[in-house]
Amino acid sequence: MTDVNPSPEGQGPDGHEAEPTRRDFIYIATGGAVAVGGAFVLWPFIDQMNPARDTLALASIRTPFSELEAGEQVTVMWRGGPVFLRHRTEAEIAAAREVELASLPDRDSRNENREGSPASDENRSALAAEVAEGVEIDEGLRTALIVMKANCTHLGCVPVGEAGDYNGWFCPCHGSHYDTAGRIRRGPAPENLHIPPYTFVSETTIQIG
Ligand code: FES
Repeated sequence: MTDVNPSPEGQGPDGHEAEPTRRDFIYIATGGAVAVGGAFVLWPFIDQMNPARDTLALASIRTPFSELEAGEQVTVMWRGGPVFLRHRTEAEIAAAREVELASLPDRDSRNENREGSPASDENRSALAAEVAEGVEIDEGLRTALIVMKANCTHLGCVPVGEAGDYNGWFCPCHGSHYDTAGRIRRGPAPENLHIPPYTFVSETTIQIG
């Protein structure tokens, strides 16, 4: 995987300072866990008490989201693949919303929660996810949250966050640029990052799958 950390000059590819922030720590720590083995990432989130529950865990995982602050992202493993969960900033949301849908290479939301819908920011955000009965989630928070399978739709590399021409995600393998809604904007990837089915099962937790 390409090194996405700050350069020796002390600047990241987007000009940020080299000193790790809390956001950086979460990304680095999670990336390390993924590199060592997905089970370490899954461990806090999956109840593996017996074989029957193991089987269930393969189909769905529960992961907390409420402690993610604006600008932070975590990566969890689901069905053997990484999934990004990001709390976007106001600027990221605004940038995604001002894009003309007609200009997008892929105009499908690629969102299993709203299949066949246009690739608007609303259809890509957690506004499109189900909320369990009795659960109340602030609409602004649902607008800010985005959950996406973390595999580039070209050949499956894991893109880097807060990078690329659109300050969304950048896949260094062959140069695909995704915007802050995870939509492909430039490069060989044919489709937007895919969004898995997920539900807000409580005020603090989502279930993926
Ligand atoms: S795998 Fe991402 S651009 Fe090729």
